[in-house]
Amino acid sequence: MEVVILLGGPGSGKGTTAERVRGRLGYIHISTGDMLREAVRNGSDVGLKADLYMKRGELVPDDIMIEIVVERMRRGNKDSKYLLDGFPRTSEQATLLEKSLADEKGEISQVLFLDAPSELLMKRLTGRRICRECGINYHVETMRPKKEGVCDACGGELYQRPDDHESTIKNRLDVYGRQTESLISRYKKKGMLKRIDSSVAVDNIVNVVVDILEG
Ligand code: AP5
Repeated sequence: MEVVILLGGPGSGKGTTAERVRGRLGYIHISTGDMLREAVRNGSDVGLKADLYMKRGELVPDDIMIEIVVERMRRGNKDSKYLLDGFPRTSEQATLLEKSLADEKGEISQVLFLDAPSELLMKRLTGRRICRECGINYHVETMRPKKEGVCDACGGELYQRPDDHESTIKNRLDVYGRQTESLISRYKKKGMLKRIDSSVAVDNIVNVVVDILEG
C-alpha cells in the first residue's frame, strides 16, 4: 500500500490536482472534505457531528477523522495507491496514519506541499461555485460558466459551499496556520516534503506532480 499526502491551505488546489492526477496514474483519491460533505448530505451520525465544525471552518475532531480514513483504506489491498487530500491535518492524525500504515506494511511515498499566498487562496474560494450534480468547479471571474448559475457540462445548478464565505475562509486559513502548518516541518525534517508552487496554472501543477510521482 502506497500513500501520497497532498498538503496545502484551503484553496491551494489539493482537490483539483488529485482529480486530474488520479486517473492518469491509477491512484485512489481520498478527500476527507468530500467524505464529510457526503456524510452531512446523508444526515448520518458522523455528518451531523461534522457539520457543526465545518460550518465554522474548524477541524472535525481527530477520532472521527481517523476512523473514517482508516475504514476507507481498509477497503483497498496491498497494491492500492492512495492520494490523500486533506488528511492528515494535525500531528495526532499524522502519527496515527503512520502507525496504521506500519500495521498494514504500507508507506508514505511522497508528501507534496501545494503552496500559494493567502490572498490568492481567499480570491479562489470566495469566487468558487460548484455543480450540485457533477461536482465540477467554476469561478465567478476566472472560470465562468456560459450561463450564470448553470453547469456547462450537465446543466446542473451551481452553488457556493457554505464554508466559502469570507469570514469562514478567514477562519479556515487561521486554523490551517495553527493546526496544519506544523506538518510541513514534520515532513521536512524527515526529508519527505516537496514544495510545489500552486499559484501557477493547473496544468503546470499537474505536470510537476505527475513527474514527481512517476519518479
Ligand atoms: P476540505 O474540503 O478539505 O477543504 P480545504 O482544505 O479548505 O480545501 P478546499 O477543498 O477548499 O480546497 P483545495 O485545496 O482542495 O482546492 P481546490 O482544488 O478545491 O475540508 C473542508 C472542511 O472539512 C474543513 O474545514 C474541516 O472542517 C473538515 N475536514 C476535512 N478534512 C479534515 C481533517 N483531516 N481533519 C479535521 N477536519 C477535516 O481549488 C479551490 C478553487 O481554486 C477551485 O475553484 C479551483 O477551480 C481553483 N483552483 C485550484 N487550483 C487553481 C489554479 N492553479 N489556478 C486557478 N484556479 C485554481
